[in-house]
Amino acid sequence: ETPLRDLADRHGLRMGVAVSSHLLDNARYADIAATQYNSVTHENSLKWESVQPQRGQFNWSGADRLVDFAQANGQDVYGHTLVWHSQLPSWVSNGGFSGPELEQVMEEHISTTVGRYRGDIDYWDVVNEAFNEDGSFRDSVFHRTLGEGYIATALEMAHEADPNARLFINDYNVEGINAKSDGLYRLASSLLAQGVPLHGVGLQSHLIVGQVPSSMQANIQRFADLGLEVVITEVDIRTSTPASQQALQQQANDYRTVFEACLAVDGCGGVTVWGVADPHSWIPDTFPGQGAALPYDDNYQPKPAYWAMHEAL
Ligand code: XIL
Repeated sequence: ETPLRDLADRHGLRMGVAVSSHLLDNARYADIAATQYNSVTHENSLKWESVQPQRGQFNWSGADRLVDFAQANGQDVYGHTLVWHSQLPSWVSNGGFSGPELEQVMEEHISTTVGRYRGDIDYWDVVNEAFNEDGSFRDSVFHRTLGEGYIATALEMAHEADPNARLFINDYNVEGINAKSDGLYRLASSLLAQGVPLHGVGLQSHLIVGQVPSSMQANIQRFADLGLEVVITEVDIRTSTPASQQALQQQANDYRTVFEACLAVDGCGGVTVWGVADPHSWIPDTFPGQGAALPYDDNYQPKPAYWAMHEAL
């Protein structure tokens, strides 16, 4: 049958997958990533702790490997992520930096990373998970030291390093209209009004079977109406394991709903699934007893969710 990426191309949609560079040694894993998807996101190897574990010591091996893979397979690369409170080395989080010092640290990290991949990585999650559930700003070393202005500063730095890159703010639990997505909406509106280089928002979409927010399409639409691109950046849809046939059918409907919400809105530019196949998903480690969240099963076979994506495209 027609690979997902060919169907997505007809819609001008980026159909992405999160890839762990070291798993590219697994032939079945690499084959699915190459043949089904026209975009890839580094699952971990572009995060701060991977790229700059000590100040001034940059490590590109994992990140380069996936960029090379993408180029060999004619895929876009969606860069994830530059400024995030998690997977952040303690030399940053506990460094005791003053405001000007922390801005210097951010500048070194952002300009070096974005600059290295200028022309090769065209999209960046510049800031990840900046919000609390109530829509206020999350406490982090960046917010504590620099206030909410750290977000505009990071976007300006990334834009300076690659004026052609499309710059995103990404978060979870912002798929439907709720207090948290209202906070993201207020921030996006305010950044645009100030002329800050923001081009899109990422809705992670780590969802639960049977619980796709009913306002997802309306939420995508309101960000698109600001002139922003919306990307579904990290979709997976988890359930209790072992998953019942019924749960897998519901999951297929849920994947279809997510794709239809994106396809219904001009300005929804892509959907990325957060992993190639269930054995490597982050879900069981983070949500014990949950899993089976991806379109390919433990044996790398397509699940009902895969066929639902296929049909939705
Ligand atoms: C996860 C990865 O999938 C795991 O391998 C890693 O151990 C932790 O991070 N939100 C994000 C992603 O923005 O970077 C996270 O990825 C999942 C939640």
